[in-house]
Amino acid sequence: MLSEKMRGELNAQINEEYYSAYLYLSMSAYCQDMGLPGFANWFRRQYEEEVVHALKILDYVAGRGARVELRAIAEPAKDFGEPVDLFEASLRHERHITGCIHALVDLALEEKDHATHAMLQWFVNEQVEEESSAGEILTKLKFAGDNKGALLMIDRDLSQRQAGAEEGE
Ligand SMILES: [Fe+2]
Ligand SMILES: [Fe+2]
Repeated sequence: MLSEKMRGELNAQINEEYYSAYLYLSMSAYCQDMGLPGFANWFRRQYEEEVVHALKILDYVAGRGARVELRAIAEPAKDFGEPVDLFEASLRHERHITGCIHALVDLALEEKDHATHAMLQWFVNEQVEEESSAGEILTKLKFAGDNKGALLMIDRDLSQRQAGAEEGE
């Protein structure tokens, strides 16, 4: 049985994941509009991944026989500045999500909810990946600076990310 508190917090996390999806979809559209199709592709894949995260938690809640409650998804930003700002924002967002996941783990430990604790370990590891892939691209962008040729090379790199592929591929 999920505690009422845990059920509430997991439902809130489903919303966080959908908001992440929406944020990345907005970033993808912004990149497309900027003429950076590789960046747009990368954020589109990121969007898809976040939907998978939301569904993982949703299926877990439902699988425990608890009620899933979908809440309104907040409107994401539309303008993100330069590519380097986009990745600063992504990294900041992923750090926020890591904090949410860690708070859920703390609650699972407090409640001795071993099943939820085990389910969350996947997310703990995923957040390490998420922060490192956003951080890596951010480092490359900082290194590229104002060099348009380098930016286009990064765009070409990011166009390679496939649906369902692991981070950084
Ligand atoms: Fe996520
Ligand atoms: Fe994420």
